[in-house]
Amino acid sequence: MAAHLHFNHFSSHHICPARLFFTSFFAVRPLLPAQRAHLHMSRINASITQSSCSNFSLGHKENYRSYTVHLQQRETLGKRLHCTGTRLVDTEEHAVEEGIPCTSSSSPSSSHSFNLRVEPFKKRLRIAEIKGGQEEGLERVGEQITIRGWTRTCRLQKSFCFLEVNDGSCLSNLQCIVGSDTEGFGLIEAGSVSTGASVAVEGQLVESQGSKQKVELKASKLHLIGGTDALTYPVQKKRLSREYLRSIAHLRPRTNTFGAVSRVRNALAYATHKFFQERGFIWVASPIITASDCEGAGEQFCVTTLVPNSPKDSSTPIQSIPSTKDGLLDWSKDFFGKPAFLTVSGQLNAEIYATALSDVYTFGPTFRAENSNTTRHLAEFWMIEPELAFADLKDDMACAASYLQYVVRYILDECKEDMQFFDSWIEKGILARLNDVAMKDFRHVTYTDAVNILLKAETKFEFPVKWGCDLQSEHERYLTEKVFNGTPLIVTDYPKDIKAFYMRQNDDGKTVAAMDVLVPRVGELIGGSQREERLDVLERRIEELGLEKDSYWWYLDLRRYGTVPHAGFGLGFERLVQFSTGIDNIRDAIPFPRVPGSAEF
Ligand code: 4AD
Ligand code: MG
Repeated sequence: MAAHLHFNHFSSHHICPARLFFTSFFAVRPLLPAQRAHLHMSRINASITQSSCSNFSLGHKENYRSYTVHLQQRETLGKRLHCTGTRLVDTEEHAVEEGIPCTSSSSPSSSHSFNLRVEPFKKRLRIAEIKGGQEEGLERVGEQITIRGWTRTCRLQKSFCFLEVNDGSCLSNLQCIVGSDTEGFGLIEAGSVSTGASVAVEGQLVESQGSKQKVELKASKLHLIGGTDALTYPVQKKRLSREYLRSIAHLRPRTNTFGAVSRVRNALAYATHKFFQERGFIWVASPIITASDCEGAGEQFCVTTLVPNSPKDSSTPIQSIPSTKDGLLDWSKDFFGKPAFLTVSGQLNAEIYATALSDVYTFGPTFRAENSNTTRHLAEFWMIEPELAFADLKDDMACAASYLQYVVRYILDECKEDMQFFDSWIEKGILARLNDVAMKDFRHVTYTDAVNILLKAETKFEFPVKWGCDLQSEHERYLTEKVFNGTPLIVTDYPKDIKAFYMRQNDDGKTVAAMDVLVPRVGELIGGSQREERLDVLERRIEELGLEKDSYWWYLDLRRYGTVPHAGFGLGFERLVQFSTGIDNIRDAIPFPRVPGSAEF
């Protein structure tokens, strides 16, 4: 029994892959009752119609050609198929179409038959797929495989060589035994395969003789893809300082530490989306360029085409910059007709969407032009900002704690090898610390209580403490590390004068419904608040602070039309990476750090 899928392409003889990129998953079941099966397709507007008991076809359109693909029922029944361009694969990524003959459809415009060949795009097994199994690869012993990656070490013995290859899919290398009978052994003898060289190795997976790994690859063929100069290649096996590695950020992902940080950072990003998506939050893209400093956070990077408007014109003379009669910059001549900046936060935009879609989050880059040369500040960092409608500060705190516990649990479960590596080499005890974070309830104090604790502390702080002062990193770390024994601590109800205008005023008239989540090593990981939803109170606050009310017209509209209590927070993603990996310096928690004086790579 066969099902027919008719693929419509533009009649142009060029098949444009971008236009044919279908994103959704759909189930093809050959014997469904006649019905329209709608598909979400990102780039082409079409739906699949089951045109007879055993046919699916895309709705016919002029200038389109249809192609028919036969699917063998045996292979498709009950399976979900993923259609990507001209490739049809099932969810386990096995090509189900290869080799199946195709015929043209009966559509009037179809005069050609198109052989839907599925080209495998994975010509190799990832090392994680080999060693990540329950038996660390033993279940694959006997298989003939090809791996591709970069040489970590090449140890020549009398008649063979141990070649350690890493492809970045996991921390482990795959040990390859390249013997004198291996095709390409001459490359080893000639010294062409040194640390950093890219290679492809084909052979049989065998049980390892050594105790360090369960399996190894007995190579039958070695192919050198890209050689290196062993004398100048900077990432040698010896330990390299983090400072030095920052100066070679194009090669540092090839080290164990940066490979592991990259994978855990990726897992944290994935878990972030998973957490919010599973709870019905809508991801909103907040703008990177903003024409108003509504946030009031200050210290923004200006985005302008006035000076200079391309890197080539960096020698622009001052006189060529448009100015007014009074000798001021003439912003009306600028790209946006007024000053524009890189955003410091997506919060105010998130509030717009929260007051329509209820629960939303942003996750994107944000920028601050503070001249802070610390281990916790970047000029460009990523922020996760959920915004919850019909919610108060308590909901906000619960969401933050639940999110943090979820992502920590996720990496402990899903990144075991990398987390073990951090525990051994970066921060001893990090596994126990994170396990506690995932299991134990967070602690909570008010700002006023926190200040009283700090006033009684025997430690001498660089910045003296008194009610009304902003808590410094040393105070935050003292509270969470010393007083609360490493448990994340939520501090609430800060003085209104040290917090932003949009935070909801408490009844005492002195404090606002703000919360910061403090964690050991990092200090402030999360900053959030319940937002002021009362129009009159918000307007009064804007006036009190001498802010320009007109520029908040749209923000005030949200209170004017259908206002609701709402709350949210911002979490610095690189600080989360620091907290989750034990990496000391935030510059090592992002692939390409931007800090004062440095924007290389
Ligand atoms: O406390 P912040 O400034 O809060 C806001 O921007 C709010 N609009 C968030 C919201 O309520 N939606 O920043 C939030 C977090 C901080 O707790 C910190 O983790 C991180 O962003 N952060 C930085 N991370 C790296 N480098 C910097 N320069 C950072 N500044 C803030
Ligand atoms: Mg803050």
